[in-house]
Amino acid sequence: MFTPDESGAARTGVVIDVIRATSTICQALASGYERVFCAPEVGVARTLRDTLGEGVLGGERGAVRIPGFDLGNSPREYLEPAGSTLVLSTTNGTRAVVAASERCERVFIASLLNLAAVVDAVRNAGEDALVVCAGVQGAMNLDDTFVAGRIVELLGWERTDAAEAAARLVGTWGDAEEAFRASKSGRNLLENAPELEEDISFCARESVLDVVPRFVALRDGAAEIVL
Ligand code: MLT
Repeated sequence: MFTPDESGAARTGVVIDVIRATSTICQALASGYERVFCAPEVGVARTLRDTLGEGVLGGERGAVRIPGFDLGNSPREYLEPAGSTLVLSTTNGTRAVVAASERCERVFIASLLNLAAVVDAVRNAGEDALVVCAGVQGAMNLDDTFVAGRIVELLGWERTDAAEAAARLVGTWGDAEEAFRASKSGRNLLENAPELEEDISFCARESVLDVVPRFVALRDGAAEIVL
């Protein structure tokens, strides 16, 4: 699925928002956060943090940190845990996680950082998988499609036409960073927060984290993700 609004069904869902929400989730859990709540709306995140009585509030709107939040959505801000719980709200990615959790039995979080680990987890689940790209505000984007294509290539399973298209796109760029810079998400980041340009090369590293974040439960409208 190039966007979460398309139709499709499978027991296993794999969600991608490589620039930058799912890269941030993977990095935060790999760094020692115990759980990440993906909140679709800023209000949901604030209310959940109040209900929990703890938690680091992270996220972005327009690529920059939400006013009053502790951290933004740069994965480089999550190299050390600032608490055990992260409550994250982003423009597209956290909504895509919630949407997938409502239609799939199990949901894995994918980025390029944890590509090999997530492909192994999908293979071990042994069933059809629905790869859900977060896209950008309802439209397909090249960065998530690139990662979807890499998943399709590594899995080597029978492909839908969409999966075939994603895999074929991968070969049109020299590398992931080139694809990410060409994408709407990459251009949005560079336009709105040029000081975060390094996030693009950070997110373009493949299979450097051996983690498979997975959905466990919905709580007050947010999807809880753990390892
Ligand atoms: C999103 O969820 O839309 C993205 O992660 C935006 C970003 O922070 O680059």
